[in-house]
Amino acid sequence: EWTPEAFVDMTVEDLKKQIGDDKVVLGLSGGVDSTVAAVLLNKAIGDNLYCIFVNNGLLRKNEFESVLDQYKNMGLNVKGVDSSARFLDALAGISDPEEKRKTIGRVFIEVFDDEAHLLTDVKFLAQGTIYPDVIESISVNGPSATIKSHHNVGGLPDFMKLKVVEPLRMLFKDEVRRVGAEMGIDPELLGRHPFPGPGLAIRILGDITAEKVRILQEVDHVFIQGLKDWKLYDKVWQAGAILLPVSSVGVMGDERTYEKVVALRAVESTDGMTADWVNLPYDFLQKTSNTIINRVKGVNRVVYDISSKPPATIEWE
Ligand code: XMP
Repeated sequence: EWTPEAFVDMTVEDLKKQIGDDKVVLGLSGGVDSTVAAVLLNKAIGDNLYCIFVNNGLLRKNEFESVLDQYKNMGLNVKGVDSSARFLDALAGISDPEEKRKTIGRVFIEVFDDEAHLLTDVKFLAQGTIYPDVIESISVNGPSATIKSHHNVGGLPDFMKLKVVEPLRMLFKDEVRRVGAEMGIDPELLGRHPFPGPGLAIRILGDITAEKVRILQEVDHVFIQGLKDWKLYDKVWQAGAILLPVSSVGVMGDERTYEKVVALRAVESTDGMTADWVNLPYDFLQKTSNTIINRVKGVNRVVYDISSKPPATIEWE
């Protein structure tokens, strides 16, 4: 029978044997998988694990600072690299979803590579790849992978010549969470919704600007905080807001407004492959919509996405 205790003990022993006194580099994303992988490796090799946490400027509001602090408090040897401007510059004028993903993937690799080169004698690259990622990357020619090119797996350039360590590659998501809990990782961190690598870029339809990112971060923050306050967060697989490339007419006092529309999306799912929209309480939606429109300058209309996957996808891009 599989238990998290036995998995941790066995994996830490294996990692010690495999890695010895060598150095390992790992990219932290703020997500469950890379965090659990980092803590496992840290248990095995301590500060010989060098973690890099890149701010691509497309994370949730305050996410970079707060997650970086959390990582440091967990005792991880982590460097935060704020590359927001570099990503936003590279994304300027790009509206096509796949082009956005490719650009973000490319810049991430450049930034990560620059950082990895600052470390000397690194022998291994660790990744938080889990079993479903392995399956998906095997079927790269299948239809699911060509719909959207996920860039989490196998994305690093050959010239880095690092051996890959993937301690979670046999685990499913719920097992990863149990392993994390076993090692004492904060339950709030372990219970976080999945968040796509390209971040808010694929939730801003059309081209991306710093101002649009700011607006979406504020809207998303109201929505997510509301879900937590109403004890709805843990009932939802994934939630977020989408900034639409249309403006609509509204009225504020005696003034006519012409401002942005945002969509809210919350889905139930077990693996992201299929999903149903969540029947959130009307009074929650009402309160959230009012708060967003009152608080976030530039938004005058909120809609709720009631599409399931298939035929819609979870993300809008
Ligand atoms: P879709 O939109 O395909 O999303 O129904 C399914 C799950 O995958 C996430 N997603 C991504 N994750 N890079 C990622 O790391 C991506 O490019 C990407 N696109 C979608 C999405 O958030 C959902 O959890």
